[in-house]
Amino acid sequence: MPRPTKLLIELLTELGEKSADQYVPEDRALFAELREATNLGLIRCAEKDPATGQWRVNIWYKKAVLAGFRLGQLLEQEGYNRFNFFDKQTVPTRQLYITNKVRLVPGGSSIRDGAYLAEGVVVMPPSYVNIGSYVGADTMIDSHVLVGSCAQIGKRVHLSAGVQIGGVLEPVGNLPVIIEDDVMVGGNSGLYEGTVVRERAVIGTGVLLNGSTKVYDLVRGQILQRQGEQPLEIPAGAVVVPGSRPAHGDFAKEHGLQIATPLIIKYRDEKTNASTALEEALR
Ligand SMILES: CC(C)(COP(=O)(O)OP(=O)(O)OC[C@H]1O[C@@H](n2cnc3c(N)ncnc32)[C@H](O)[C@@H]1OP(=O)(O)O)[C@@H](O)C(=O)NCCC(=O)NCCS
Repeated sequence: MPRPTKLLIELLTELGEKSADQYVPEDRALFAELREATNLGLIRCAEKDPATGQWRVNIWYKKAVLAGFRLGQLLEQEGYNRFNFFDKQTVPTRQLYITNKVRLVPGGSSIRDGAYLAEGVVVMPPSYVNIGSYVGADTMIDSHVLVGSCAQIGKRVHLSAGVQIGGVLEPVGNLPVIIEDDVMVGGNSGLYEGTVVRERAVIGTGVLLNGSTKVYDLVRGQILQRQGEQPLEIPAGAVVVPGSRPAHGDFAKEHGLQIATPLIIKYRDEKTNASTALEEALR
């Protein structure tokens, strides 16, 4: 019988605040509850406030995940026929079943227990989905994709081949990457350091966004960037492509140097919809 979520959150908050010498054996079972509740979508690392549309990060969640790593010892991982794997006992690989209705294509992918994958998700090999991440219904995780720790991915998102979604564990960072519903992320793009991509935005092939990136919105005449604790946010429906701007200083000028900077070239229109249409048959 699972504990009520509110009580579980209180216990996990306490767990996250404990130092290593305060752990008791029951803490491992408590951490298993975190994984199970995340598998079921009952608790999340970040949630959207329906009233304001703002994302609230549950810091207790990340702290509890870190406690989970501290709680574990290296242990031989069973169930793999050909290779031995060694990992902390508290962060095993998640076993999916046909009833999860996730299409997990054979060949070298790994999903950590404590990651939520909704029905209709497709995972192409090789991909890695780390602990604390949340992947909404009908999302495509194409080959060579990393869904980093605690990343929050919406419904019907397409993470194209080679997309890297950074996590919060290492290097140390508190803000998970958040990608809202119906976003298309083009091949080889990288989203890091708490970047928020609002619904229906399109991240073109090869765009890199992190906490230091300035994004120039050519349509609205704005420069978007992280403001203190407020992460970089790509507006709903924006179409972002790689761009460049002159680098500062005489040396740069002398040599005609540019620095990479993504551009919002347009907002989603019929043409974009046609370029990014998802293949129903794959769902
Ligand atoms: C962003 C994207 C979807 C195009 O969107 P679109 O709405 O069809 O864009 P358009 O073709 O109308 O282009 C509008 C303008 O932006 C430019 N542009 C569009 N995408 C661009 C890109 N990725 N890089 C540079 N410029 C780009 C076009 O050249 C055009 O410029 P112009 O106005 O000077 O002619 C597409 O470029 C893209 O990145 N798709 C992702 C493909 C991918 O990675 N697939 C992965 C499969 S695993």
